[in-house]
Amino acid sequence: MNIIVTGGAGFIGSNFIFYVLKKHPKDRIICLDCLTYAGNLSTLAPVMNQPNFRFVKLDICDRQGVYKIFEEEHPDVVVNFAAESHVDRSIENPEIFLQTNIIGTSVLMDACRKYGIRRYHQVSTDEVYGDLPLDRPDLFFHEDTPIHTSSPYSTSKASADLLVMAYHRTYGLPVTVSRCSNNYGPYQFPEKLIPLMIANALADKPLPVYGEGLNVRDWLYVEDHCKAIDMILHNGTVGEVYNIGGHNEMKNIDIVKLICKYLQKPESLIEHVQDRKGHDMRYAIDPTKIHDELGWLPETMFKDGIRLTIQWYLDNRKWWENIVNGEYQNYYNEMYGKKGL
Ligand code: NAD
Ligand code: DAU
Repeated sequence: MNIIVTGGAGFIGSNFIFYVLKKHPKDRIICLDCLTYAGNLSTLAPVMNQPNFRFVKLDICDRQGVYKIFEEEHPDVVVNFAAESHVDRSIENPEIFLQTNIIGTSVLMDACRKYGIRRYHQVSTDEVYGDLPLDRPDLFFHEDTPIHTSSPYSTSKASADLLVMAYHRTYGLPVTVSRCSNNYGPYQFPEKLIPLMIANALADKPLPVYGEGLNVRDWLYVEDHCKAIDMILHNGTVGEVYNIGGHNEMKNIDIVKLICKYLQKPESLIEHVQDRKGHDMRYAIDPTKIHDELGWLPETMFKDGIRLTIQWYLDNRKWWENIVNGEYQNYYNEMYGKKGL
C-alpha cells in the first residue's frame, strides 16, 4: 500500500510510521508535515533513508501542494494526524486550530475525492465528547455519545469529524474515524503533562499542576494507539467511528507523584497553579466496539509504559533538551507566568 501519513514528524504520527514500516515492510509511506513548533525532523532520522519512505515538507492547507503529491504518489490510503494538538495553546490562539484542523482536513479529503482513494482515516480524540463528572464512575464515552466540546481545540477536532462523516454521506468517500484517549510514550513534545513533568523534575524545576490536580485522563501507550489505527485500516468498516482507550483512568496529581517517585525527586517540587479555563474533569473511553469487531486490546500496562517512557526521556536527553532550550522557553515563561508560576 502507498500510505500518506500527515503530521508524521509529531508524536503519534512518528510512532505510527515506525510501527507500520516494521509491521508492513512492503508498504510505502509518504509523510506530509509542515514542521510547526511540534514537528521534529530529527525524530524521523531512523527511517529517512529507507527506500519506502519519503518526507515532504508541506502544509495540509496548501491545496495545490497536496494535489501535486497525490498526482505523484497515487496513495491508496491517507491517515491524517496533522493537527494543532495542545489545548492550552488553543485557549490562547484558536485561529490556527480552525485553519489546520478543519480546513486542512477538508483539503486532504478533496484530494481523495479528486484522485480516488481506498481509505481516508481521521485521527480524532475523545475530547470531542466533552467531559464526564467525577462522581459518576459508571459513565463512559461510547461512539454514539453526543459531541459536546469544551475548548477551541476539541471543537476544531469535532468539526473535522463532522466534515469527515459529511464527505462519506454526501460523496461516498470511504472514511473511518478513531477517537483516542490521552497517549504517552517516546517523542511526545514536552508541553504535554507527562514529558513536561519528567523534564522539569530532572531539572529540579517546579511541577505545575493545574488546580487541585483531580482531573482524570485515560492514559494509553502510544504504540497501542498505532496498532489500533493499523487494525482499523485493514479490517475496520467504512463509515464507522471507533473509540480507542486504555481502561486506565488516573488523576493528574497521581501521575505527577508517580513521576517524582520513579525519578527520586521530592513531591515538594509540585506547585498548584491557576487552573486551565474550561478544564474538562474526566475522560473515559469505552473501547468495546474495537475490541469486539477487530480484536484490539491495549497491550502495555501503565506501570510498564510509564517506566519505558521515563527511561526513553532519560536515554534521549538531547532530543528534548534541544526543544526546551529553544523557542519553547518563551512559550513556557509566558504560559506558566500567566498561571502564577
Ligand atoms: P503533535 O502536536 O505532537 O504533532 C502534530 C504534527 O502535525 C507536527 O509534526 C506538526 O508539524 C504537524 N502539523 C501541524 N500543522 C500542520 C499542517 N498545517 N500541515 C502539515 N503538518 C502539520 O500531535 P500528536 O500528539 O502527535 O497528535 C496527533 C493527532 O492525534 C492529532 O490529530 C491529535 O488531535 C490526535 N490525538 C492526540 C492524542 C494525544 O494524546 N496526543 C490523543 C488522541 C488524539
Ligand atoms: O484526550 C486526548 C487529548 O489528550 C488529545 O486530543 C490532545 O491532543 C492531547 O494534548 C491531550 O489533551 P489533554 O489536555 O488531556 O493533555 P495535556 O497533557 O495538555 O494535559 C493532561 C492533563 O494535565 C490535563 O488535565 C491538564 C493537566 N496539566 C497539563 C499540563 C501541560 C497540568 O496539570 N499541568 C500542566 O503543566
